[in-house]
Amino acid sequence: MEHSEAHSAIVGPRGIWWRPAGKQEKMWVTLAFVWCMVLFAMMPIWHFKGGQNPSGVRSKVSPEDFNARVEKFVADYKVGEDGGMPVVAPPPGSDVYLLGRMWRWYPVLRLKEGAQYTLHLSSVDINHGFSLYPVNLNFQIVPGYDYGLKIVPNKAGDFRIVCNEFCGINHHMMVGKVVVE
Ligand code: CUA
Repeated sequence: MEHSEAHSAIVGPRGIWWRPAGKQEKMWVTLAFVWCMVLFAMMPIWHFKGGQNPSGVRSKVSPEDFNARVEKFVADYKVGEDGGMPVVAPPPGSDVYLLGRMWRWYPVLRLKEGAQYTLHLSSVDINHGFSLYPVNLNFQIVPGYDYGLKIVPNKAGDFRIVCNEFCGINHHMMVGKVVVE
């Protein structure tokens, strides 16, 4: 049987690998490193200059606690009902809560155009996806985390919240509502 070549810590590879890197290799390593640094710098630059990534306040919250906050929010500012779902109109500047669960967004929100709110998003069961339609806004809604977004609705109208994270048999039915007036 022929001896086959194996590389390991005991058997070193053959060749001239121990010679110092050549000019071209050094150049490529330098280029790759510089590009890594550019991409690394783009993360904070894009955050501040790009205006795409939201500046949110994140904190841990148990599903029970978040549910309790949502219920208190609904009790405080409920103004009506829409197909069995409470319609909640919080005052400008307040904390707004929206809860995702299989398979609904709770409650219906009524917000004022031009006012600032802190929108708290969380789930009480599994991951859902918050997608504001027809505006292209997407967030992952993760149980155990309260994701607080500073928002200023800048357009009046009826908006739909579509779930964009597959969450079971009725995923496609999970549609919520935000009214901006
Ligand atoms: Cu919730 Cu899909």
